[in-house]
Amino acid sequence: MNKTVQTAPYLSGTVALPADKSISHRAALLSALAEGPSQIAGFPEAADPQSTLACLRQLGVPMEREDGGPLRIEGRGLGGLQAPSEPLDCGNSGTTMRLLAGILAGQPFESTLTGDASLRARPMERIAAPLRQMGAEVTLTDGGAPLRISGTDAMGHRLRGMEYELPVASAQVKSCVLLAGLFAEGETTVVEPVPARDHTERMLDLPVAEQGGTRRITARGGHAPAARRWSVPGDFSAAAFFLAAASIAPGGTLRPSGQGLRLPGAGMNPSRNAFLDVLRTMGADLSVENERTEGSEPRADLTARPAPLRATRVAGRQIPNLIDEIPILAVAGACAEGRTVVRDAAELRVKETDRIAAMAEGLRALGAEVETFDDGMAVEGPAPLAGAAVDSRGDHRVAMALAVAGLAAAGETRVASAEAAQVSFPGFWDELERVAGLGGE
Ligand code: S3P
Repeated sequence: MNKTVQTAPYLSGTVALPADKSISHRAALLSALAEGPSQIAGFPEAADPQSTLACLRQLGVPMEREDGGPLRIEGRGLGGLQAPSEPLDCGNSGTTMRLLAGILAGQPFESTLTGDASLRARPMERIAAPLRQMGAEVTLTDGGAPLRISGTDAMGHRLRGMEYELPVASAQVKSCVLLAGLFAEGETTVVEPVPARDHTERMLDLPVAEQGGTRRITARGGHAPAARRWSVPGDFSAAAFFLAAASIAPGGTLRPSGQGLRLPGAGMNPSRNAFLDVLRTMGADLSVENERTEGSEPRADLTARPAPLRATRVAGRQIPNLIDEIPILAVAGACAEGRTVVRDAAELRVKETDRIAAMAEGLRALGAEVETFDDGMAVEGPAPLAGAAVDSRGDHRVAMALAVAGLAAAGETRVASAEAAQVSFPGFWDELERVAGLGGE
């Protein structure tokens, strides 16, 4: 499916954010492992979290949802999952595959995880290696999925707790090991030299020791998560596209006192929202109101107004906290004065697509000058963006980032494989058209 985007002089109104994707996956998985019923309010219709639900159903986890009501999941406890009769299809969702692998490594049965072509091409040795160290049998296909997991070794031994230092800053690998730790003998400690998003340890209420910037998170075997009522905040990573869009709207500086674009209920987990600070450093006019914490996760109401942006540089320990926002940061960079540089972000090469290559290609098609590195890119701004045909390569964040670039480009931009946005934000195109269409307000 193609979508076309026109120049938007100004964005205003209120965006309905989807529930946070990372937190939704975890709420579903933890509910399935809890003893008894849990509820998740506003569980998203987005394809990725729905892949997690589909896999849990295959594992014999009962769930139901009445129209508009919360999702109810009947937890099976740590020992209650059933062997699936078919391979578990994780669709496009790396989080489903990597977190579920940790849980399946603790089961007495064998299971197979697979996914779409993009997911099958993504690296899985990063989870296979620690799970094998704990005693699971894991077989990969060319370093990726389909992957076969069996929780007991040839001698029928259970998983063993261990200490594991993460070789890549990855919340998915961290979570995989901690979830396997729930099924292991003794304690499992993940040592995290560069912190990545901390939803799993928050939601499981795990002890975290911090020293000199390194975090040590410990899970204890045999401790089932508590059955809960989960309330999931809006997805900050979805909000990021609109924060940038409202900031760079080309006619915006002519309306200095406009009401701006509102994003109520956005997640404000400090391991997720570095993009807010980065955009502010670039000169964005953002406000944060009504900060509150519901359950284990903070949230707030955000407003963005147009402002002239200047270039910035991001690297090092900032990167994991920004990783999903780098495609949209590249777009902001194309609209900012100077050279915006991203380094230490080689992980972008192994996301749903190679996001460095995909964003460079898209932004160049729109007229920006982009240099790429193995671990990042540099974008010159302000670029004289002009509408063109661009391709998401089937990656949701590339689709949304290039759509936002199209709002700031002269003329019409056509985004190919635009339906990819459904992976995390099914309402994206409607919301974008609505808030960008109110130019006369
Ligand atoms: C996620 C972790 C990140 C992120 C992904 C979601 C999670 O991946 O890019 O969109 O929910 O744990 P990595 O852990 O591979 O960095």
